[in-house]
Amino acid sequence: MKRVLVINGPNLNLLGTREKNIYGIETLDDIEKRIADEAEAYNIKVDFFQSNHEGGIIDRIHEARGKYDAIIINPGAFTHYSIAIRDAIKAVEIPSIEVHLSNIYNREEFRSKSVIAPVCVGQISGFGSIGYLLALKATDLLFKQDDTI
Ligand code: DQA
Repeated sequence: MKRVLVINGPNLNLLGTREKNIYGIETLDDIEKRIADEAEAYNIKVDFFQSNHEGGIIDRIHEARGKYDAIIINPGAFTHYSIAIRDAIKAVEIPSIEVHLSNIYNREEFRSKSVIAPVCVGQISGFGSIGYLLALKATDLLFKQDDTI
């Protein structure tokens, strides 16, 4: 059974109340339940982690080495400047997919740059919570396609 770690960064614990017009009305719990249901259908084991702290996210990525076959990560605002999270993903060599609820390319200019995306397999942005399900689908297809993920 393949294992996937889903990481959510700062302020995503406030989903459901935070800027609902941008991020929707679902809570992080709601979204994680949807991901867990989908994962079961794919026969993927999924774990969840959320932190508002850069170091906590980095520690979790380090601990993922040897335990997970892929990472799905929404780094929140760290997307735009955390070289440390980027380096952690690169260091552990676990194929990772970056997800954003909003389309980071049609918002403020500072959001249109991701320092994480270049070390990821790919990025999904702008589909709301469906983005996490698309990322899970992508990992499932990649798992089936070859052994590189
Ligand atoms: C976000 C986009 C980021 O720019 C923002 O800082 C977030 C959420 C998204 O999911 O759309 O916290 O990652």
